Amino acid sequence: MKGQEWYQADEVAEAYDEKRFSRGGRLIDRREKEAVLHALGPVEDREILEIACGTGRFTAMLADRGADIVGLDISGPMLQRGRERAREVGVADNLEYMRSDAGRLPFPDNRFDAVFAMRFFHLADTPETFMSEMRRVSREQVFLDTFNRFSARSLYNWALPMGSRLYSGREVQELLDAADLDLVGTDHDWIGPYGFYRKLPNTLASGFRTLDTALGSTPIGPPLASVSYWNARL
Ligand SMILES: C[S@@+](CC[C@H](N)C(=O)[O-])C[C@H]1O[C@@H](n2cnc3c(N)ncnc32)[C@H](O)[C@@H]1O
Repeated sequence: MKGQEWYQADEVAEAYDEKRFSRGGRLIDRREKEAVLHALGPVEDREILEIACGTGRFTAMLADRGADIVGLDISGPMLQRGRERAREVGVADNLEYMRSDAGRLPFPDNRFDAVFAMRFFHLADTPETFMSEMRRVSREQVFLDTFNRFSARSLYNWALPMGSRLYSGREVQELLDAADLDLVGTDHDWIGPYGFYRKLPNTLASGFRTLDTALGSTPIGPPLASVSYWNARL
């Protein structure tokens, strides 16, 4: 799994947030946070595990909202950034970070109320294993996003150095079925792929985003969307 190695490099971890979430990328960060909050609902005192938490964007946000949250990632440098962020925003005492492999979670069955992973399944060679582990340690809910096969992302996906797998809706449904999870909500977004938004200054990106969401709400939106969010229950 190339993505596993890619994120172990100090320079990749250091550049991660600036590269993805500055300029037009701010809109992506905001939308992803909304997707997580919408799917999880009220988080206060809920026991939540974030798989592949990276530099802790969501972990810190959820700790700040009173969740009992553990962030797990295989990369020491990414987690180090997460710890720094947690100190910066004053939530370091309210969360736990663990270095571990999402393919073999170091938790007993049914340990968390909810388990989620953002921007992780595109890195997975064996998504069945990861889905089944997420399901095993969750009591109620599993939430994830995927990058979509039939979208503009496929134009540059092959060139990404960390490797990137695209999914069809049918493949995701099969993964959920195999893990005995019931899909209770989906959302499809971003006709303009992330790589496009990241290149744009904030002002231009907002204009394109308005157009993107308008198109997204028409019948051509869901089939062309480059990202899907999947909310499943046990
Ligand atoms: C694109 S980053 C996403 C980080 C974070 N979820 C976010 O959205 O900002 C992918 C993360 O997956 C982690 N990762 C890759 N393979 C993993 C594995 N087998 N177990 C745990 N984490 C893994 C990488 O270290 C990296 O931090």
